Amino acid sequence: MRTRIAASRCLDVRDGRLFVEDVAAVDLVERFGSPLFVLSEAQLRSNYRRYRDALAAGWPDGPVDVLPAFKANLSLAARRILSDEGAGADIYSPGELAGVLTTGVDPERVSVNGGGKTREHLAKCVEAGVRITVEDLDEVDVIEEVAAAAGTRARIRLRVKPPLPTLWKPTDFARLLIPIDLGFQVYKSGIPREYLVALGRRALALPHVELVGLHLHAGRHAASLWYWRGLMRHYADLIADLCAAWDGWRPSELDVGGGMATPRDPHSRMLERGEFLASLVGFPALTALRALGAAAYHGALARMIGALLHEHAPRPMAPSIEEYAATITATLRERLHARGVPTADIRLQAEPGRGLYGDCGLHLARVKVVKRQTEPVPLAWVLTDTTEFFLASGAMEANRYDVVVADAVDAPATMTAEIVGHSCGPDRLAPSARVPELRPGQVLAFLDTGAYQEASASNFNALPRPATALVSGATAEIVKTAERIDDVFARDVVPTRLAVPAPRSARSA
Ligand SMILES: Cc1ncc(COP(=O)(O)O)c(C=O)c1O
Repeated sequence: MRTRIAASRCLDVRDGRLFVEDVAAVDLVERFGSPLFVLSEAQLRSNYRRYRDALAAGWPDGPVDVLPAFKANLSLAARRILSDEGAGADIYSPGELAGVLTTGVDPERVSVNGGGKTREHLAKCVEAGVRITVEDLDEVDVIEEVAAAAGTRARIRLRVKPPLPTLWKPTDFARLLIPIDLGFQVYKSGIPREYLVALGRRALALPHVELVGLHLHAGRHAASLWYWRGLMRHYADLIADLCAAWDGWRPSELDVGGGMATPRDPHSRMLERGEFLASLVGFPALTALRALGAAAYHGALARMIGALLHEHAPRPMAPSIEEYAATITATLRERLHARGVPTADIRLQAEPGRGLYGDCGLHLARVKVVKRQTEPVPLAWVLTDTTEFFLASGAMEANRYDVVVADAVDAPATMTAEIVGHSCGPDRLAPSARVPELRPGQVLAFLDTGAYQEASASNFNALPRPATALVSGATAEIVKTAERIDDVFARDVVPTRLAVPAPRSARSA
């Protein structure tokens, strides 16, 4: 566990206690309450700089921009830090546009993504001077109209969707064995290849639109460098084909999107294809044993439960930021050169979300109850005061986080337990985890929750969403306040005709 913790520069173990920069995790909960999202400023700045420097090292041809995906973490304080560093932004919605513009970001380095952009949103994008990454076929004409009305020229890029036939391994987004190529095609985003040539020609003919580049975001189908090599080859081939089809047009910027894993990479660790396959054998075996009577069945179940619900072994660490950057830049350059597309003066952009924010964040929760059963099968649960509705990627992307006991990092594991939340959902936050004996009140740290978790937290069971604390050296400050129960119901409107009647005694008085 120590070596995995050491992979983050913001984490440290001192006298067996987990520290975020110079603040003990347990102290954070004592000061700000539990559960709590925590962000490290040093890790955020360091991750950003590493992406910027590593991409620049591999791309001597032109400038490099890192556009962190704002959706991954909507903390304006975190975003202020990135804007202060000179980072651009990948954004999606009118809300993200409004938010990011308050943080001092350079609009030239903002890419507005997303299908179904409204005319009003596009007009605001044009007015703000951000890059518009086109998704829909008729979007170009609306941009032309709003740019003409504003007396300006809008810079656009086309978001492409190449076929990825060589990416023939199962995507990590699905439990079933779906090839990455198919997984990517099913994903709604990107302009299908069949429309690109005509759409580009149309854009190049419009007076108030400047087609400055291309954009590809395929996402984290695999953490490996093999995936990035294949993806960049297919991207380069499509770029070369489009340059030829558009009479020698050359991109002045190329965006490779996001999808790089954070080092401990919780993504899809709960898919457990092995467990699924084991159950294909295990289920008929249990069915046969059940026919032999309850004692035989439960005896077998107790022996098999360990195999069926085994500890999800930690994965090897994902490639480093430097390895991703070197692979992306080298593959793209080599393939573009091989296809006769010069790369001189092309601006390279990348949009890491999880890869940039993931290990900047952790989620702290207190143990509420430890419960055991011995019959009919031995099981134990560690019930915490958080929920999968605050760590939603557990359900959405089968994330499995490394869990650390914040005040006893080195305590030897003595039991296997389901670490669960306190909502009425299944809340299996860390199934079959090997943990030490735990007491109510102890603090557990779920690592690598800096991307997507707070941003997608909901109020299921009327649970108020937790605060976020930003740690910077020995300082910790609240940068998102905790909701109160009143906040959970703040948007509700009870029509007067449904008003709660006054108590009978008050009515008769
Ligand atoms: C256009 C775009 N860029 C970047 C990202 C960030 O992806 P990730 O968090 O996998 O790096 C996303 C995420 O969905 C996206 O849609």
